[in-house]
Amino acid sequence: MEKLKIAGGYPLKGTVRISGAKNSAVALIPATILADSPVTIEGLPDISDVQTLKALLEEIGGKVEFANNEMTVDPSSMISMPLPNGKVKKLRASYYLMGAMLGRFNKAVIGLPGGCYLGPRPIDQHIKGFEALGAKVTNEQGAIYLRADELKGARIYLDVVSVGATINIMLAAVRAKGRTIIENAAKEPEIIDVATLLTNMGAKIKGAGTDVIRIDGVEQLHGCRHTIIPDRIEAGTYLILGAAVGDGVLIDNVIPNHLESLIAKLREMGVEVESGDDQVFVSPAEKLKAVDIKTLVYPGFPTDLQQPFTSLLTKAEGTSVVTDTIYSARFKHIDELRRMNANIKVEGRSAIVNGPVRLQGAKVKASDLRAGAALVIAGLMAEGITEITGIEHIDRGYSHLVEKLNGLGAAVWREDLSQEEKEQMENA
Ligand code: EPU
Repeated sequence: MEKLKIAGGYPLKGTVRISGAKNSAVALIPATILADSPVTIEGLPDISDVQTLKALLEEIGGKVEFANNEMTVDPSSMISMPLPNGKVKKLRASYYLMGAMLGRFNKAVIGLPGGCYLGPRPIDQHIKGFEALGAKVTNEQGAIYLRADELKGARIYLDVVSVGATINIMLAAVRAKGRTIIENAAKEPEIIDVATLLTNMGAKIKGAGTDVIRIDGVEQLHGCRHTIIPDRIEAGTYLILGAAVGDGVLIDNVIPNHLESLIAKLREMGVEVESGDDQVFVSPAEKLKAVDIKTLVYPGFPTDLQQPFTSLLTKAEGTSVVTDTIYSARFKHIDELRRMNANIKVEGRSAIVNGPVRLQGAKVKASDLRAGAALVIAGLMAEGITEITGIEHIDRGYSHLVEKLNGLGAAVWREDLSQEEKEQMENA
């Protein structure tokens, strides 16, 4: 077990290259189950979630090669092996194995997923979709059992706009008989990416990226080659740290359109941001103005950037209000930021940030992935040394973080936990 140490206060300058999107990767990899010949995905990020999914595909008999960010999955010898426990609990996105295995084998047993705790994260809309397609779904001792004689297309209205449910229903429906219509679908770029892969595999999908998706089931899907989209949340994290401690940071390999809500908020704060075709440049601002943000479904301000953005707001002059309408408890980073001298209080679903303050290095703990990103930004902003434990959360989603930060001139390194710290982590 390791911790991350950051010597704060260094201005960051230079170019950082963004990796493939984590939240696409975790759906694209399970989607390969639906093919009958090898699928290659290029540009995958080097993160632990990708390694966990690779191991899960191998557990069900897939042949997987992964090198130089390219994964080839031969799904031809996969079987519908039950996965009630073990690695499925390590990540939230293991729920995509439900849709993909149901779509291929008409049955699946998948343990209820783990991942970051951000408040209750039900999967009722996924289950509503599977049931509408004809599956019988039961929860037995913490695992979801799905069985169908045959999957048949259906009209499904999502009561909650959900990224996971939209993708999972697409996975289950692409090989079902007849037409499926998903209404009130989520519109995130990752959904378009998954639909593009499935279409390249021979699926018939229209409307991905809008709130109505139409899928005409096909009998078989074949192998193909697909390049993943860049990670808009990783890119957003570097944009925020460019605004917080940058002295001119160029973010390379991005789709600037995916970051519009963040760029608009940064400009409102007084930060200069210039967008090119696949790059964004952020210049240092002399003074940052407080702004309010409210997280919304895409193309609104992403909940995944709310935590990193809060660290930046500690430097802004005035009072900012951050409201998370997607998750009720995504504020675990706030106590840790307070340890670093931030003046923030949480009221219901909002955090009220008073600035500017000079953050001070401290020993803090990452409780979830984006809380970790918030603490890394805070550590870079702070005076002195910051030590972050719980970095396994950060490793789930940020590819080569230390190398990328040091490439921009930061002083960041990993150290083994002391025996005392290990015991504290185990007892927490
Ligand atoms: N919801 C339900 N019922 C459902 C599904 C969702 O009530 O059946 C609720 C959730 O509790 C939440 C809201 O709907 O309040 C949105 O959840 P959604 O299903 O869209 O989230 P998700 O698919 O589980 C993905 C990302 C998250 C990201 C959200 C929102 C993956 C693997 N995860 O989660 O990413 O926050 O969409 O954009 O794609 C992260 O990357 O740090 C992360 C948590």
